[in-house]
Amino acid sequence: MQIIRTAREIISFVEESRKQGKVIGFVPTMGALHEGHLDLVRQSMTETHLTICSIFVNPTQFNESTDFDKYPRTLDADVEELTQVSCDVVFCPSVDEVYPTPDKTIYNLGDVSNVLEGEMRPGHFNGMASVVKRLFELTLPHRAYFGLKDFQQCLVVKELVRNYNLPVEIITCPTVREPSGLAMSSRNKLLSEQGKETALQIFRTLQTLNEQWKDVEIEDLQKVGSFMLSLENGIDLEYIEVRDSKTLAPYDEKSHNAPVVLIAARVEGVRLIDNMILQK
Ligand code: PAJ
Repeated sequence: MQIIRTAREIISFVEESRKQGKVIGFVPTMGALHEGHLDLVRQSMTETHLTICSIFVNPTQFNESTDFDKYPRTLDADVEELTQVSCDVVFCPSVDEVYPTPDKTIYNLGDVSNVLEGEMRPGHFNGMASVVKRLFELTLPHRAYFGLKDFQQCLVVKELVRNYNLPVEIITCPTVREPSGLAMSSRNKLLSEQGKETALQIFRTLQTLNEQWKDVEIEDLQKVGSFMLSLENGIDLEYIEVRDSKTLAPYDEKSHNAPVVLIAARVEGVRLIDNMILQK
């Protein structure tokens, strides 16, 4: 696997690959890799000729500096994991390579960016869009892979691509879970074993709502969910919402789109998010 650290090198590498007619798949990450990330890499490898995975803890999308400082950084282990799955290239640039000058753009990311995470983490999606656009410019991918674990992020990235006519196809991939059901996340590395046990209540709640939703009014579904989460000591709920899975507007039974339940909560001070599309 090739390790590339500079903008100049990655651009000349992808330009050459494109000249050779290669289809490029791109998996952007912030490292501390787990099976969720590796699944995206594997999917890209089956669908493209060349897979680039980036590892970059993007400072502009963290709205709390302590969260940025605490974010797990495990570059050597990450490179090892990517080598194991035969990824072609890892791009791990410094901040200066990604942002030669600070990006002060306010991106047009539509209504999907203003609710939920957009409300709770001001500036987060603007910073995420800024780095994703920049990484697309550097890696020139035909296809880019994103996980539905970050459900709202997938919708915001699609909006970014649409609004700025970016020549890339966005592929979304299912959430990978621990055998227990806990959604894999780099932030799980910050939890104790007890914390992971506590966090499982988030998955149990999603599962229960998925089983009950056809028998319960939507407003009551949210209440059932909040109640279930309040039963577990150590979960500090930020939100639980049932939304339209295409627009993120409050779910309306007349909509043709499926409902999605989205949860954000803190466990041991670690902010976790998870979601589930409710099955018909
Ligand atoms: P990060 O949290 O490292 O996630 C990188 C990609 O892996 C995202 O598309 C995310 O949705 C996906 N992912 C994480 N956990 C997953 C899981 N359990 N199952 C499936 N996919 C999973 O998301 C980011 O980084 C950043 O915002 C980024 C897009 C890289 C921009 O900085």
